[in-house]
Amino acid sequence: MRIAMFSAKEYELEFYERANAGFQHELTPLDAGLTGVSTRLAEGHDAACIFANDAADRAAITALHEAGVRLLLLRCAGFNNVDLEAAAELGMTVLRVPAYSPHAVAEHTTALILTLNRRIHRAYNRVREGNFSLQGLMGFDLHGRTVGVVGTGKIGAVFARIMLGFGCEVIAADPSPDEACAASGVRYAPMAELLARADIVSLHCPLTPATKHLINDDALAQMKPGAMLVNTSRGAVVDTGALIRALKSERLGGVALDVYEEEADLFFRDLSDHVIKDDVFARLLTFPNVLITAHQAFFTRDAMNSIAETTLRNATDFERGRPDPAHVVDTSLIVR
Ligand code: NAI
Repeated sequence: MRIAMFSAKEYELEFYERANAGFQHELTPLDAGLTGVSTRLAEGHDAACIFANDAADRAAITALHEAGVRLLLLRCAGFNNVDLEAAAELGMTVLRVPAYSPHAVAEHTTALILTLNRRIHRAYNRVREGNFSLQGLMGFDLHGRTVGVVGTGKIGAVFARIMLGFGCEVIAADPSPDEACAASGVRYAPMAELLARADIVSLHCPLTPATKHLINDDALAQMKPGAMLVNTSRGAVVDTGALIRALKSERLGGVALDVYEEEADLFFRDLSDHVIKDDVFARLLTFPNVLITAHQAFFTRDAMNSIAETTLRNATDFERGRPDPAHVVDTSLIVR
């Protein structure tokens, strides 16, 4: 199958080349992200392969369909960037990688918490400059603290287990509680209780109409003063304006983000020689208690091997007329 890979990065290609030895697809890596104009690059291809920030909206899907594309391969788990109704109307099959390494994301979440709490990012720079002062570096013991996990699916469940291992009390909110999680010591509670009791609130739910701005002014006001908020799910689960208000009022102790509402214009590229035009993002960067990584939680060798292998297998399964039902993304998954 001829596959146009949008937003292809150099660091991904070795994984796709290696995995493709077993599938023999024709891969066309494209620098361009999926936009109205770039859809033309998919002409002559059977499938378009996209990543988390490629907007597969109605216009893009229509243009891809006109270019002859019949399969949209998501090389990620989240599918909030795809207009599933438009895909269904045009008969475009959408396949994703529902699970590759929940450990990668859960471990990065833990790294963010430890870094922000113990100020490792600041200590690293200080020591290199010969500043060995501890002023401003004080953290707190994780042991004995309460961690609130919002969404105990694949990633949230692994993260909850890691926090239990640190000796934390873990409470969780999820409309579909996980029995194994509860059996391991996680206590399910209403969202209001989670917000009021947790020293650390970590978001692991998908972005849906119901979870858009789940963390807004109201939710932030319910959080324990001095608590830490961590988001490695999707940017728009948090209302960034409300977050900045809570940071300015010094209500929050710290914020760690791997995702940001408007990240599509920033992340996954080197803008170090450019002016950052997003004033909201620029404001976030000014807070000493905010730590941001650019959507790298998934980024381990193990996860990349798994994503490449599954993405290419999805293409082969589609070609053979039997896509894995667990990988099919269709309108039945829309949460209204
Ligand atoms: P999953 O589908 O296994 O679990 C999601 C859980 O969230 C489910 O248990 C669901 O019931 C729950 N949920 C849904 N609505 C909720 C609500 N309103 N409140 C509380 N819980 C709710 O998904 P998985 O694999 O654990 O991934 C979670 C999210 O992490 C993905 O949707 C994606 O957005 C994000 N992600 C981020 C990555 C990164 O690199 N930063 C990489 C991979 C995923």
